[in-house]
Order: sequence, then C-alpha cells, then structure tokens
Amino acid sequence: MKKKIAAIDIGTTKVCTIMGVLDSTSGLRVLGVGIAPSHGIEKALVADATKAKESIKESIRKAEVMAGYKLDSAYIGVTGRHMGSTNSKGTVAITGAGVVRDEDMKRALNVALNIKINEEQKILHVIPRSYRLDGQEVKNPVGMNGSELEIEVHIITASTASVQNLTGIIKGLNVSIEDLILEPLASAEAVLAEEEKLAGVLIADIGGGTTDIAIVKDGSIYHSSVIPAAGQQITNDLVVGLGLNFDLAEEMKKRYGTLVPTGENADQDRTVGENGKNVNFSALCEIMQARVEEIIRLIILDIPGERAGGLIPAGIVLTGGCANIPGIAQVAEKLTRLPVRIGTPITLSGVSIDALSDPAYATSVGLILYSMKNKGTSNWFTKRKGFMGFLDQVLAIFR
Ligand SMILES: Nc1ncnc2c1ncn2[C@@H]1O[C@H](COP(=O)(O)OP(=O)(O)OP(=O)(O)O)[C@@H](O)[C@H]1O
Ligand SMILES: [Mg+2]
Repeated sequence: MKKKIAAIDIGTTKVCTIMGVLDSTSGLRVLGVGIAPSHGIEKALVADATKAKESIKESIRKAEVMAGYKLDSAYIGVTGRHMGSTNSKGTVAITGAGVVRDEDMKRALNVALNIKINEEQKILHVIPRSYRLDGQEVKNPVGMNGSELEIEVHIITASTASVQNLTGIIKGLNVSIEDLILEPLASAEAVLAEEEKLAGVLIADIGGGTTDIAIVKDGSIYHSSVIPAAGQQITNDLVVGLGLNFDLAEEMKKRYGTLVPTGENADQDRTVGENGKNVNFSALCEIMQARVEEIIRLIILDIPGERAGGLIPAGIVLTGGCANIPGIAQVAEKLTRLPVRIGTPITLSGVSIDALSDPAYATSVGLILYSMKNKGTSNWFTKRKGFMGFLDQVLAIFR
C-alpha cells in the first residue's frame, strides 16, 4: 500500500518542504524537495504573516513542481521559546482480576497528564518513557499481573497563539495539517544513532534563530527545550563589532569564519574580504568564538541535574546550520569535557538532493522520518486504538 507523506520545516532562515510516498514494503521515497529563503519568521515565530506565507508558498511550490503533484497535507515542525516540557508520572492500583487492561493504562495516563499547565499553553506531545508494574520496569504491561501500575511520560506543551499563527498560514495555503512535531524531536530522529539514544545523548540543533535541545536516554526523550540564540546572533555581533551590514556580515561569517585559525591564518594583521570590504580576520574569529562559547554555555546550563556525564555519557551531537562552523565541536568539547560530534542527517532514498546532506537540514529530514514512524506502529499510543482516540482528543485543539 502506498501513502503520500510530506513535511514542512519553517526555519528562521529557510523553509524546506519534502514530499514523498510511503510504501509498506519499500519504505519512504522522496519525490520532491523545495527550499526557499525564509522571511517573516523571527526566532522560529511568525513575525510577519504575509512574508512568512510567501516563503512557505514558494517552498511548497518548488516541491510540488519536482514531485509533479499537489501537496494536500503535511506534518509541520514547531519550535520556539514558548515550548515547555516536563516528565510526569501517574500511578494507579490495578483493579479487576489483577491483570493490567487498557482501562488501567488510560487511568494511569490520565493521572500523569493531570499537571498544571500555563493557561495559554496546550499539550502538543505525550511520549511514554517507561512503565513499572509493582516497581519493576516492563516494556508493555497490558495483560500482565500486578497490583500497582506506574507510567512515566514526557509532556511537551506549546503556546496556543504561537502555534495558531503558524497553522493559520498553512491552512490558508490549502494544506491541511497532519500533525505538529516538536523540531528537536525531528532533528534527533535524523542524526542520532540507536546506541547514543540508549546510552544518553544531547542533541543541539543550532539554527538561525533558535538552538533546539533534546536529551534522549534509554531510547526515549528525556528533556527538550529551546534557547533563543543561534546563528543570527553571531551575525549581529559581526554587524556591531565590524561595522558591516547584515548580509555582508553573514557572508563573511560563512566564508571566512573559523574557531580554529591555524598557521598563516593566525596572523593578527591578516585581512579577509574583497572589493574594498575587508575585515580583520582575527577580530572576525574572536567575535564568533565569544558568541559560540556563550551558546555552548547556555546548552550546558540547560542540562537538568548535576552530573551531565551520568545523564549523557554518549556526549553531545551538534547539528543545524551553525554546526558547519569549523572548530565548533572542539570548542564544545573543551567547555563541556564531553565527547562532541557533528550530526549530518541520514540520506533519504528517492530524488537525490545534495543540499539535504548538510546539518542545516537535520530538522527537515527528521520531520519526514518522525512522521513516517508515527504513521507506523512505533509506539504504544499508535498501536492501541483506544489510546490513540483519547490522545486525539487531547491534541485536537491544534489541528
Ligand atoms: N559554514 C557556516 N559557517 C557559519 N555559519 C553557518 C554556516 N552555514 C550555515 N550557517 C548558519 O546557520 C544558520 C542557519 O541554520 P539553519 O538552516 O539550521 O537555521 P533555520 O532552520 O533556518 O532556523 P531555526 O531552526 O533557528 O528557525 C544561519 O545563521 C547561517 O549563518
Ligand atoms: Mg531549523
């Protein structure tokens, strides 16, 4: 059976639409990719709806032209400072004959979901982390004997208004929304290895407007958050520090910026640039170094608990456009004393689009992978119809 699938990543600097088909035997095949510069989005939020709509429209149109059909519905990535996350537990006594039934699972979930959420926030994702039966961890308690069931879930919330600003635009383009996906979850899907997810790993997607963080441990999400600082702040520092306009600063950053100036590059008086627009190379690198270090420190501060080494022994995976800055992994390793690597998204089958094999497209690729997984039977909620219905009610508000 074939099913169409699509995802749109609306970033601060670019919009990326990926369209494809999901075949029950051969998996995903990408048929169209559309990348367009993003306008009207600031720190991952809609700042100018008209401009944002144009950018999204252009990205969709490009993907449609390549795929040869119209986009009807898509999964949409969401992120931003308004997102919240927490782990919550629900414990219930097993009634009946002491055998766990769907009803007990539902009651335990209800208890876990009974948390205090800001009025303007709504639940976006509920991801089961673990189940315990009489204190013993089990994979799937349904049908097992016990007297007390505990369920732990990771709950992700989003501001209703921020999400609706985005969904309004998509709907205005006649594209219906299959579901909303938190971007750090998507990025994690595209770049993390299974072993890392089991051991405990932090992924930081340093994009244009936001740094999206997720900690994955024991194979499931443990922590997620969004820091409103990323590549555009680095560029802004260069604007101020070197007296350049934004576009030139952006170009200088990408073309010459490095955190590991070596050999002749390290010469203090060296200038870079052309057409009379030269800047001092070491000043450029020092300014970038300072802001990158700050972003890394903010990532460290965001790690819950005291012992990062215990929580994330597999270390840190950096992705997003800023992961392209030469030397960023070394800087992060020095500051965190953890292993750090750069995460490039896995290659999708179908039309070959080289641009996607860049850390900047971790979220875009991850969105389609995540949605594919959720169309399958990867988690307990989707496997059990009753729960899916229940969750649907909880999440319906966003659709
Ligand atoms: N080689 C490079 N050196 C320095 N910075 C780079 C390089 N390549 C990309 N970047 C920066 O990466 C940023 C864009 O990253 P990305 O495409 O992941 O962001 P986005 O998805 O549009 O935004 P966000 O996810 O924050 O909303 C820009 O600030 C860009 O300057
Ligand atoms: Mg992004």
